[in-house]
This record gives sequence, structure tokens and C-alpha cells, in this order.
Amino acid sequence: MTTQYRIAVLPGDGIGKEVMPHGIRVLELVAEKTGSFSVDWETYDWGSEFYQQTGRMMPVDALTILSGYDAIYFGAVGMPAIIPDHVTLWEFILPIRQGFDQYVNYRPTKLFEGMAGPLRGKGPEDIDFVVIRENTEGEYSGAGGRAHRYTEQEVAVQTSIFTRHATERVMRYSFELAKRRRKKLTCATKSNACQYSMVFWDEVFDDLKSRYPDIVTEKWHVDALAARFVTRPETVDVVVASNLFGDILSDLGGAIQGSLGMIPSGNLNPERRYPSLFEPVHGSAPDIMGKGIANPIAMVWSGALMLDFLGESEPARIILNGIENVVKRHTILTPDLGGTATTAEVGQAIYEAINKL
Ligand code: NAI
Ligand code: MG
Repeated sequence: MTTQYRIAVLPGDGIGKEVMPHGIRVLELVAEKTGSFSVDWETYDWGSEFYQQTGRMMPVDALTILSGYDAIYFGAVGMPAIIPDHVTLWEFILPIRQGFDQYVNYRPTKLFEGMAGPLRGKGPEDIDFVVIRENTEGEYSGAGGRAHRYTEQEVAVQTSIFTRHATERVMRYSFELAKRRRKKLTCATKSNACQYSMVFWDEVFDDLKSRYPDIVTEKWHVDALAARFVTRPETVDVVVASNLFGDILSDLGGAIQGSLGMIPSGNLNPERRYPSLFEPVHGSAPDIMGKGIANPIAMVWSGALMLDFLGESEPARIILNGIENVVKRHTILTPDLGGTATTAEVGQAIYEAINKL
């Protein structure tokens, strides 16, 4: 049985456009090799150039258009020399994440065989975990205000909002994920200092915990947990964190994995009421744009996350194996990983590695 998926492709800006073709090509290859699915792609040229022509990052009815797809494959956005970053972010990627209620930000951290991460004495067997970040509220709810502007008495208030609904659903997702992995879930908290929000966060966690008796759980203050990512990453498997804490922890996870050019992410609506969005963590990288040296691995790996979410776990695993083979060989790598290869050469190497599997 071949499943047909409709996927919207948003290459966006800068290196997003350069790495996207390699992601698509690999997905097409595993579709053909496994015969388990096929993809109907539609590409939209939204982003900063679209903004220069139309005054908008994407059309007014963009969400209506996108709602007809099974998933969104996203490159990167940003043209900081011409358009302020808060415009590109708030008028493009954020409305999609919010409009489609993509409340889980899924960020895997995995050190591949053959890669020397920055942590001395820690190898691939030690670094393999997932940070689940709440993606809709908490510290980034956008509630607050400023008063007495331009006076000595000026004040700024930024309020965190934690609802039972949003807290419970992201934790439930994390418990379910832990079930499919090493059955261990770490709750990132700070209930010693945040006596309202984080004590509440812990209580919701405790309420849920009894429903998952086979999962080993623990609560860790986020500062100590950050230190543990560095000193004992092998003791971590699935971490659930609020928006702010998850933002920082997942970047730290990315750092101990080697290069920003490798890190994928998923913005998920687990109930599938709306399409989910898969994208590399990196931005449009204006400093290397047009040089043909962007690492395509984060884009390709994001494609594997997308397949996994769509239920195509075997094709997803094949893609990961292909990446692993190329990284392990250590001959064809882009400059961010210490190599001299181009985007096209690495893309081709992954393609060939998968073709041989
Ligand atoms: P960035 O991720 O674009 O680049 C940071 C550094 O990492 C640069 O030195 C870049 O060359 C390098 N890098 C990033 N991806 C790479 C890859 N695949 N291969 C090799 N090297 C890579 O972040 P930066 O410079 O802070 O932001 C640039 C623009 O991207 C801004 O407009 C920013 O707002 C936007 N941005 C967009 C994101 C998104 O689309 N989700 C996420 C982060 C930033
Ligand atoms: Mg971040």
C-alpha cells in the first residue's frame, strides 16, 4: 500500500533555498526505494523577497492554503540587512506555529558516530536525547506592557501564562514519547524560585505521572539540568520544558551535538488537526549564503522527522542511516564540520549512501 502525502514546501530565504532541494531529493529517493509512500509537493516562494514585492511575508490566506497539506517542510527565514528580524519572524513562521496550534517543539540531540562533539570523553553512546519544548504559552505568551515611557519611573512587565490545558497536553505528549524510547522522563522545573508557575507545572506533572507507571520520572531545576547536559548527558533521555527553559535547553543540546548545520526540529500538532512543520534549527545564514557551503544535514534530518511523524518510521530510519554513514566516513563534510565539501557534494553523498542501503 502506497500512502500519498501532500507536502507544502517553503524554502524561505538565504541558505533555506540552498539546502531544501537536497532534503526533497532524499525524501523522493526513500519514497521510491521503500515504495511505502509518495509525495505530492507544492512549493511557495514566500519570504523576504515576496515581502519586497508585496509588502507581506506570505499572502493573507496563507494559513487556509497550508491547511490543505499533510505537513509543511520549511527552510529558513531572514534577510536582516533589509528587513528587521521581528518582522520576518512574526509575520511568517510564528503565525504558522500559532495558527496551527503546533504546541510541541521537538528537538532531538544526537551525536553521530565519527563526530567529535565539544564534550571531552562523551561519544555517540552518551549523547542521544530529546528536548520537548512547550511552544504556545508560558514565558513567551506575549502578555505584558510598559508604562511611564521615557521617564525615570519607567516600568516593563512581562507575564508568564501557564494553563492546565497547555501544560497537560505537552506533558502527555512527552510521556507517550518516553514510552517509545528509554522510558525515562525528566521534568525541567524551577519551583524553588517560581513559586506559582513552576509549582503548578510540577503539580500537573505529578498528576499525570500516576497514569504512566512504567515511566521513570524525575524533576530537575533547569539550571542544574543545564549543567547535567554537559557533565552527564548519558543520564538524560526525554526532557519536557516550558517555552523559555526549552528554548535554552534545546540550544544547549544542539551545541553539544557539534554544528548548528545539523540540528533538525519539528513543530507538532500531535492531534493532526492542522499540519505540522519541520525545519532546520538554523536560520538563513546570510554570512555564507550564495557560497554553496551550507550543511544540508539539518534539512535532510528534518525530512526524516517529518516522515516519522507521518508514520513512515522505516523510511525515516533509512535517512538517518544515510546521514550517519556520511558523517562516519568523515571525507565529505561541509566547512562547519571541518571539511571542504560543498552543499551539493554532501547532498549527493547522503543520496548515494541511502541508495546503497
Ligand atoms: P543562523 O542560524 O542563520 O547562522 C548562525 C551561524 O551558523 C552563522 O555563522 C552561519 O553561517 C552558521 N550556520 C547556520 N546554518 C548553517 C548550515 N546549515 N551550514 C553551515 N553553517 C551554518 O543564525 P543568525 O545568523 O543569528 O540569523 C540569520 C538570520 O536567520 C536572521 O535573519 C534570523 O532572524 C534568521 N533566523 C531564522 C530562523 C528560522 O527560520 N527558524 C532561526 C534562526 C534565525
Ligand atoms: Mg532558540
